[in-house]
Amino acid sequence: MESEVKNCTKCSLHKSRRQTVFGCGNKDSDWLFIAEAPGKDEELKGDPFVGRAGRLLNEIIFSIGLNREDIYIANILKCRPPNNRDPLAEEVHKCEPYLIHQINLIKPKLIVALGRVAAKTLLNNDLSLKEMRSVKHNYYGIPLVATYHPAALLRNQNLKPAAWDDFKWIRNLII
Ligand code: URA
Repeated sequence: MESEVKNCTKCSLHKSRRQTVFGCGNKDSDWLFIAEAPGKDEELKGDPFVGRAGRLLNEIIFSIGLNREDIYIANILKCRPPNNRDPLAEEVHKCEPYLIHQINLIKPKLIVALGRVAAKTLLNNDLSLKEMRSVKHNYYGIPLVATYHPAALLRNQNLKPAAWDDFKWIRNLII
């Protein structure tokens, strides 16, 4: 599937991308973190969350006793949207089957959706992040929780206490 993604031309993002970002981490993990789409640093490196937001994500997961090697991280979109704009419905529609396949292979015990775009795409709703947080959702039989995207925490430090509450709660969902 990884080479299929590398060669994917299903949506127009393939025309502007430098390279695809498939996902990385522990393929047997209980924890699957899903965010929106690769940014500039991720597109250059070919891995998710390697920039500033990635460093904060590393700190967050470390603070709840996990490492990057313990989790798997993927994005809804495997290509970077120009100027990091929000994914278009058509791009999500074309790319989502890859993510669904990844979820079926990894079989996580918990999906952590990072940010509103990831959460509303997976849950197929149009709710605010506030409405989706602190609830154990059900993604085709897999528990799913939604919390802030690390980039949002970098933009607004005031969100950090609420994010910390989320992660303490999330940590205890898997024993
Ligand atoms: N933001 C995302 O949504 N995904 C990444 O991989 C990096 C930043």
